[in-house]
Amino acid sequence: MCGIIGYVGCEPQSNQVLLDGLKALEYRGYDSAGMAIVVNRDVRVIKTRGKVANLEKKIEDLHLPSSVLGIAHTRWATHGIPNQSNAHPHQHGMVTLVHNGIIENYGELKELLTKQGYVFESETDTEIAAAYLDYVYKKSFDKKQALQEANKAFRGSFAFGIIFADEQDTLYAMRRNSPLIVAVGEHERYIASDVPAILKYTKDYILLDQDEIAVLKKDEVKIYTLDLVERDYEVKTATMDASAIAKDGYEHFMLKEIHEEPRVVKDTMHAYVQDDIDQLVASLPDLRKYQQIHIVSCGSAMYAGMIAKSLIEQAARIRVDVEIASEYRYKHPIYDVPTLVLIVSQSGETADSLAALLLAKSQGVDTMAIVNVIGSSIAREAKYVAYTHAGVEIAVATTKAYCTQVALLSLMALNLAYVHGHVDKKQANAIIQEVQQLPEMLEHMIEDVQYVQAAKIISRHNNVFFLGRGLDYALCMEASLKLKEISYIHSEAYAAGELKHGTISLIEKGTPVIAICTEESLYEKTISNIKEVKARGANVILVVREDFNVGDDYYDYKISVPKVNRLIQGIVSVVPLQLLSYQVANLRGCEIDQPRNLAKSVTVE
Ligand code: G6P
Repeated sequence: MCGIIGYVGCEPQSNQVLLDGLKALEYRGYDSAGMAIVVNRDVRVIKTRGKVANLEKKIEDLHLPSSVLGIAHTRWATHGIPNQSNAHPHQHGMVTLVHNGIIENYGELKELLTKQGYVFESETDTEIAAAYLDYVYKKSFDKKQALQEANKAFRGSFAFGIIFADEQDTLYAMRRNSPLIVAVGEHERYIASDVPAILKYTKDYILLDQDEIAVLKKDEVKIYTLDLVERDYEVKTATMDASAIAKDGYEHFMLKEIHEEPRVVKDTMHAYVQDDIDQLVASLPDLRKYQQIHIVSCGSAMYAGMIAKSLIEQAARIRVDVEIASEYRYKHPIYDVPTLVLIVSQSGETADSLAALLLAKSQGVDTMAIVNVIGSSIAREAKYVAYTHAGVEIAVATTKAYCTQVALLSLMALNLAYVHGHVDKKQANAIIQEVQQLPEMLEHMIEDVQYVQAAKIISRHNNVFFLGRGLDYALCMEASLKLKEISYIHSEAYAAGELKHGTISLIEKGTPVIAICTEESLYEKTISNIKEVKARGANVILVVREDFNVGDDYYDYKISVPKVNRLIQGIVSVVPLQLLSYQVANLRGCEIDQPRNLAKSVTVE
């Protein structure tokens, strides 16, 4: 959600560095972009509506020389429509800044500043932040003190990159609740919303903590806590390289990332278990004492949680509730028995998921995070952390990260089933053997092209339904989300037995219904529900376990999936559904990697 990059160096390289960074950050937002650089001692701001490519073109057309200092931003609109004046950077007096987050009390600050004679051009909270910082800076002309004062005045979330007009060799940064790293080159220093943005230039980075201020010059970084005490820091080295953010010949990142699923699922599983249940028990936290688990997440991560609920409740007999983070954080959850709050998040930065975690912590409840990004806010705040190993995911619609989340949650279910005595060692080891086939199965599913014909059918419609029961219902939620996110086809996922309580009225001749049927104990029930929609003219695409013998009068088109252990059935079955969505979106000419209005990392509530 909004991407920030900043550069200070000894060579005038700002334009290339900032544009490279913005392109790597574009998954965070792409409705407008801008940069500020120092030209002839002036802090010059260039902004455009639309994608980073538009900004690049504008800079070329203006023949703007590069500078040794610059900040840049790609926006996902919160306050004010995506247009040029709302784009960042915003400039007032001595201050030019870019911002990711929301200043919640911008209204009252605007009133104060208006009385002081400030006049505003945009509809954004960010412009108020720039003016407020200018206002407090002019009181003392002490930059760190001004940042401290602004920090205390601002409510909400922010990551700022800041240039002060009277110090043209220094980049300032400050953050609260929105991510920001500082990166270290030889004679260059950077700030960025995440590590991939600077990988082309350096792998060394420093994590900035809550409410900290960073002061960067070409050869030094100083980090201050909010009471302006300088602190020591550790320089970490990223393990990925720039190739992680290249398409590698694939037409879209989404397709590349689906093809990476066998490898990243294997990496994730092998990080916890190779062949013996004792390895799994040793590598995951001991969760025996919890009588209930609240899985709290957003989007696909929450749907991964729904799969986990079905697996954990069935295999380990522990009560699991799956909650939408933005609801959970305001609902006064009940913790009357020993509870674990489990946050599932690819980015580790999702604002609502982080807030839910902090709420649980504040109530003295234990928390665990399943996250993909090392050192992310959620990972840093949780009592226990288990990492997925999906690598960098660029496409806004998640695929490989979701698969790794489900894989790790499945291992957690097995671990809980074992420690609670529902499976013995021999059974657990046999299951581990079985789940080791998963990467191979995924390869097979990716090669399989059964989805292509179904995609042609769906691409011609504007309304689609997904039906399933149990685990298949959780899968329907994810498959339906994937389809609507990237193809803009309206889609509803329904528990198969519930359809007749209303939504069946929307089924008419030719309406595509994608029925998922892999649950052995529920298969006959789902099949009956399929008959009900078929009788009303639906065009049924049946995704079915290959060993179920379903007559061909039940469907119009069939996609078979192999029978595997229930713990991994969801991951195997989701592959053709991901490919189906991809193919439908492709046939409809959609912007697959950057769907309209969406952003990958949602750092505002
Ligand atoms: C956004 C993304 C989804 C993701 C969700 C939660 O909506 O588009 O793909 O599932 O955020 O993100 P997280 O990083 O917490 O997993």
